[in-house]
This record gives sequence, structure tokens and C-alpha cells, in this order.
Amino acid sequence: MSGSGNGRAGVLAGRVAAVTGAASGIGLAIAERLAASGAAVVLADMAADSLRVAESRVAAAGGGGVMISVGDLSREDAANRLVGQTIERFHKIDILVNNAGGGVIRPFLSHTAETLKATIDRNLWTAIWCCRAALPAMVERGYGRIVNIGADSVRNGLWDHAAYNAAKGGLHGLTTGLAREFATSGITVNTVAPCAVETPRLEELRPTNPELVERLLGVIPMGRPAEMSEVASMVHYLALDEASFVTGQVISVNGGSTML
Ligand SMILES: NC(=O)c1ccc[n+]([C@@H]2O[C@H](COP(=O)([O-])OP(=O)(O)OC[C@H]3O[C@@H](n4cnc5c(N)ncnc54)[C@H](O)[C@@H]3O)[C@@H](O)[C@H]2O)c1
Repeated sequence: MSGSGNGRAGVLAGRVAAVTGAASGIGLAIAERLAASGAAVVLADMAADSLRVAESRVAAAGGGGVMISVGDLSREDAANRLVGQTIERFHKIDILVNNAGGGVIRPFLSHTAETLKATIDRNLWTAIWCCRAALPAMVERGYGRIVNIGADSVRNGLWDHAAYNAAKGGLHGLTTGLAREFATSGITVNTVAPCAVETPRLEELRPTNPELVERLLGVIPMGRPAEMSEVASMVHYLALDEASFVTGQVISVNGGSTML
């Protein structure tokens, strides 16, 4: 995605965003989109090498500055460090995108204790710790936009997604609870729930598990996965000042695979 032409240029100028899981895939697309609209962006991930590559891509997209924060965000100390570094460099945190995650997608009984724990750690604990770290600073300034990346599979009970849906369903629940709790603090909390997205991960899955890919795409009336830019576009909207009356929502970007 290039630096200009994504939404109204400068609409996020002066805003500071932290995007988790920003080293690759959807998180990187979101970070580029927010930067292209003028935001300063902090990219957080545990994959240090990819994060450095992502940093130069996001810098090329524009915005008010880019910084990286390396760490395992399923640990409280890494989440605290992310928010601390963001405030130290940019003096505030306006937007938090909890995108870190990713499924261990397999039949429930094929999981091990380790893969179950990793699924919850990656998709739910990362967001819990990052929200806990960022909310006090948002409350203090009376402004915040939290956008979580959930999953449409929670709504349609997709094959092989039970453990993943337990984690993402927790994230959807965190969204509604926090939205109510902070509704009068100028803070909105929403979730964007994609169906299968055209990512490097889906590309990997095509040759290794074509049956699953066929099933995942088969439930989408539009007959194709979402583009990463289509997910980033919804996150971008929810991060705007003007999305001020939208909170506690789980908004699917799913080509119609669940409706309502
Ligand atoms: N790809 C899809 O089809 C799809 C569909 C619905 C929802 N999602 C969700 O969208 C988000 C992005 O998915 P993606 O396909 O771009 O995945 P991805 O694997 O390309 O990116 C996820 C990133 O999160 C990082 N991450 C994971 N655990 C972390 C941790 N504990 N601490 C710090 N960083 C961590 C990874 O290093 C990786 O860079 C995920 O939350 C995923 O569950 C993806």
C-alpha cells in the first residue's frame, strides 16, 4: 500500500497509534494505513527482524513518525513497556489496535496443552495486557480509540476454530465490557471481525490444507477472502475522531459470510 491516496490525507495528523502484531500481515497493513493518514505509529511485535523491515515500510507510508517495540505482549511487562515507550517518544497514546494473534487452527482434540495455551496467550492475553497498560493514559487525557481484531468465525462456528474462537470470543467480550466501562471517558472500544483474509498465512495454507481453505472460502458469499486493505479500512474508520458514537461493536468484514 502506498503512502498517499488511502483515505483523506492528514485526517489522523497529530494522533499517536500503537499497533500490535505489526511486523507482518494485517497488522502491517493497518499500520501503513494509519501512517498514510498522518498518525505517528508504534509497531509492536515479538518478531524483531520482521519488525525492522516493517518499520521502513510504514515510514515510507508517511505519518508523524514510526517506532518499534519488541516483546512478547502476552506478558504484562512487554505491554507496559510498549505503552511506556510510546508515551516517552510521542507523549500520549490515542489509538491502540490489538491485532497480535493468529490461530493454531486444528480440530479441538488435535490440540496439545501447549497449542491451547498459545492460542489464548496470543489472541486474548495480548489484548488484555495492552488495554490495561493503555487505558490509564487514555482516561487521563479523556480520549481513546481501541480497536481489537477479532474473528468472524466466532459468529459462524467455523470448522477447526473452537480453541481460536474461545480466545477471539473472549476478545469480543472484552470489547463490550470495556466499551461500557469507559463510555463516558471519551474512549471507544470496538472489534473488527474478519473472515479469511488474503495474507501470507492463507497462502501457506493453500498447498498444506486445501480442504480447509476451500471450506473457509466456501462460506463467503462474495467467493473470495478479504483483502488486508479492506480490514485496515474499517480499523482506520474506527480510529477516527468522527467515529465517536460507535462503541462496543463487533463489526464483521466478511463478504457476507455472517449477516446481522
Ligand atoms: N488471516 C486471517 O484470515 C484472519 C482472519 C480473522 C482474524 N485474523 C486475525 O488478524 C490478526 C492478524 O492476523 P495475520 O493473518 O496478519 O497474522 P500474522 O501471523 O501475519 O501476524 C500476527 C502477528 O502477531 C504477532 N504476535 C503473535 N503473538 C504475539 C505476542 N504474544 N506478542 C507480540 N506479537 C505477537 C506475530 O509475531 C505476527 O507478526 C490476528 O489477530 C488474527 O487472529 C486473521
